[in-house]
Amino acid sequence: MAKIIFIGFDREKDGLYHASIGTPLLRVAKENGIPVNFECQDGECGSCLVKYENIEDKEPTNYIDDKELDKLVELGVLKRKDADQCQQFTVSPPVRLACQTLVKGDVIIKPFYN
Ligand code: FES
Repeated sequence: MAKIIFIGFDREKDGLYHASIGTPLLRVAKENGIPVNFECQDGECGSCLVKYENIEDKEPTNYIDDKELDKLVELGVLKRKDADQCQQFTVSPPVRLACQTLVKGDVIIKPFYN
């Protein structure tokens, strides 16, 4: 099980949750009543942007789909060179689409404001 800490979404719901490795982050949020925005749930609309911070000593391997990285670049929240580095080193960028994010380890999740 991994620790998922939601901060800044809802005063009463924020806190520590647990989820199995591989669980979609958006599912963790929904099942626990964390008000993460979403619409398409398909990586297209960009409404589910969140800040993503690994809190493990060593960042777990994190394969990010090209589709998500391309969308993050298109939305202007990630530079192309940083997207390429995430791909090369299989690490997560600091901003994610919650609907495309799978739990890979202990993380802090915060709302993303443009
Ligand atoms: S809900 Fe549309 S990109 Fe995640």
